[in-house]
Amino acid sequence: MVMAYHPPKSRDEAVATDRHDILAHAREAFDMEGGLVYLVGHSLGPATHNALDALHQAAHYDWRRGLVRSWNTADWFTLAKRTGGQLARLVGAKPAEIMIADSVSANLYKLASAAGSLAASSDLIVEEDEFPTDQYVIEALAGMSGVTFHRAAPGEGLGKLAETGGVLVHSLINYRTGALRDMAAAEKIAADCGGVIVWDLSHATGVVDVSLSKAGARLAAGCTYKYLNGGPGAPSFLYVRKDLTGKLESPLPGWMGHARPFAFEATYTPAEDITRFANGTPPILSLAALSGALEAFEALDISLVVAKAQALGDLVTRRAGELGLDIRSPLDASKRGGHVSFAHPNAHEIVRALAARNILADFRAPDTIRFGLSPLFLRFIDVWDAMDALADILETKSWDKDEYRKRAAVT
Ligand SMILES: Cc1ncc(COP(=O)(O)O)c(C=O)c1O
Repeated sequence: MVMAYHPPKSRDEAVATDRHDILAHAREAFDMEGGLVYLVGHSLGPATHNALDALHQAAHYDWRRGLVRSWNTADWFTLAKRTGGQLARLVGAKPAEIMIADSVSANLYKLASAAGSLAASSDLIVEEDEFPTDQYVIEALAGMSGVTFHRAAPGEGLGKLAETGGVLVHSLINYRTGALRDMAAAEKIAADCGGVIVWDLSHATGVVDVSLSKAGARLAAGCTYKYLNGGPGAPSFLYVRKDLTGKLESPLPGWMGHARPFAFEATYTPAEDITRFANGTPPILSLAALSGALEAFEALDISLVVAKAQALGDLVTRRAGELGLDIRSPLDASKRGGHVSFAHPNAHEIVRALAARNILADFRAPDTIRFGLSPLFLRFIDVWDAMDALADILETKSWDKDEYRKRAAVT
């Protein structure tokens, strides 16, 4: 671990830390409104200039002018795999082990279903504090396949895996608390019992050290619209360890996963490579934006990104502790992802009061405030000032307004 960052103890120190920040240049890749403090990069990352340019190129030239020819001339046909190749380094995988398709929800379904053929038993397991989609998908898959479903208590999923040798869907970082799991230790448990883990890397990719190959992981999926800044609704990625690809079957065979899609054969023959996990036509405009967005990571040392996220998180937990907030995230940075959560009975109103000061954070029902700390564009001074604003809002109770109690459709 590179110890390049120390959480500042004063506003002046925050300014000085930013001045010496080795990653300061990464902020230039983003097209963001001046004065906005964006603490929601873990929910929807902001646009980069390259993502917007790539989207413009794909829409205005390749689609508008190239039309159907662009499947060949702009190489749209291989875009999903090529974009997966760009992402591979960020999760410690080989380019051939990643492809981009569908949503995380759909990919978890496909992988958990396929994992059944590798696991010692067919039991499906998920913990009850996992992101809701993970629970819905796994419970539905168990119902459809007629296998035993276990909704384990928080922290007990691995124990259930060891007991059953089934398939566990497991987040590397908990979406609510930001707690980081030990992937290698979990994979060791899976290997010992003949079970399989399908990792959900949604809150991890682009902010913590994800070393899939090194940790012995076999299957994973994750978001690209959070820390990777791929854009609203950007497609998910999925990972299948290379030696397993040919052994696994997708439960959703579609023509784009066929070995010869343009032979239009009546029966399905899966592609030899990871493309077999594709099904329908890829979302080219979204893929173009994602491919442009990933360029922001190209020359970056991920260990620096991780170190900066940890220092930003330490700054938040220290100041939140001084404010007496009920911190729901690990205080030890090595056990935490890129966001810090607090619980407060008026969390919704507080998040709205911050937004009125041009500080965007997020609220998760019923009582959680999350501060997402994307190291590529956030400065220490942004976070310092956001904590000052939070302190003021709490002290003056300026959150206590009817307009802040109204809830929008998306919170
Ligand atoms: C941990 C986690 N898993 C899964 C999802 C769902 O992803 P998708 O909307 O791509 O299905 C999210 C969305 O925020 C998430 O945070």
